Amino acid sequence: MRIDGARVLVTGASSGIGAATADALAAAGARLLLAGRDRERLEAVAARTGGRVLVFDIATQAKALAEQAGAVDVLVNNAGVGWAGPFAWMPPATVRHLVEVNLAAPMVLTRLLLPAMIDAGRGHIVLVASIAGAVGVGQETVYSATKAGLIGFAEGLRYEVRRMPGMGVSVLLPGVVATPFFERRGVPYTRRRPAPIPPERVARAVVAAIRHRRAESYVPGWLRLPARLRGAAPGPFRALAGRFGRM
Ligand SMILES: NC(=O)c1ccc[n+]([C@@H]2O[C@H](COP(=O)([O-])OP(=O)(O)OC[C@H]3O[C@@H](n4cnc5c(N)ncnc54)[C@H](OP(=O)(O)O)[C@@H]3O)[C@@H](O)[C@H]2O)c1
Repeated sequence: MRIDGARVLVTGASSGIGAATADALAAAGARLLLAGRDRERLEAVAARTGGRVLVFDIATQAKALAEQAGAVDVLVNNAGVGWAGPFAWMPPATVRHLVEVNLAAPMVLTRLLLPAMIDAGRGHIVLVASIAGAVGVGQETVYSATKAGLIGFAEGLRYEVRRMPGMGVSVLLPGVVATPFFERRGVPYTRRRPAPIPPERVARAVVAAIRHRRAESYVPGWLRLPARLRGAAPGPFRALAGRFGRM
């Protein structure tokens, strides 16, 4: 898909992967709509990308966000939150919040913006999931479930639009990325391996996914190996994952 001149809505554009994706898309000539809750950070991204700022909470204001955005060519569903710790002690309200922000809001936004893309015969939906959604991660159970939900949603939606020539759906499965995500969830990433990758690397993968209409992108690429192993040999995978860590 041609990015130059495309209208692209990026959620979670105020930080980390979303801000880096906005930079990469602006460099490719996209006209940006930058969504998030932190106006100051969004304005800093807008100042360097020329994007328009849309301050909305996607958990509660997805409809208002979609109305303000209007018709877009590309929707990058990137906003997300984490929570780490034993599921038995996870506050039920936090369970609900993760599902609302990470899974329900991207589906609702897609539902609201997809019809105009179909009418125009041109559109692309991007879902920023996680390797956690493909393999499951202990202490991040609900987070893993929301990302697995996004992967399933992308697979299903792709079947629905497969005969529409101008339409595409991409799902991204990043590993550990150096962003404020861990600080925000209140539990830092302390493992040495896998080493965190810079958000710019995920941003480049998002741009390539849109441009080449890639169905699925693991970032870094070697992460497809654990995902494939879990699919092909779940028993040995679980034994190995149990020995080497939580994943
Ligand atoms: N970092 C990683 O290791 C990693 C790995 C795999 C996948 N991911 C996924 O990548 C995506 C981006 O994460 P990141 O690492 O860039 O984290 P981040 O720096 O914490 O950014 C998260 C973004 O989501 C937005 N957001 C959170 N709750 C929101 C809400 N209720 N309404 C609107 N916007 C909201 C935040 O915007 P405001 O603060 O302005 O509201 C922020 O822009 C997430 O979906 C995450 O799950 C991250």
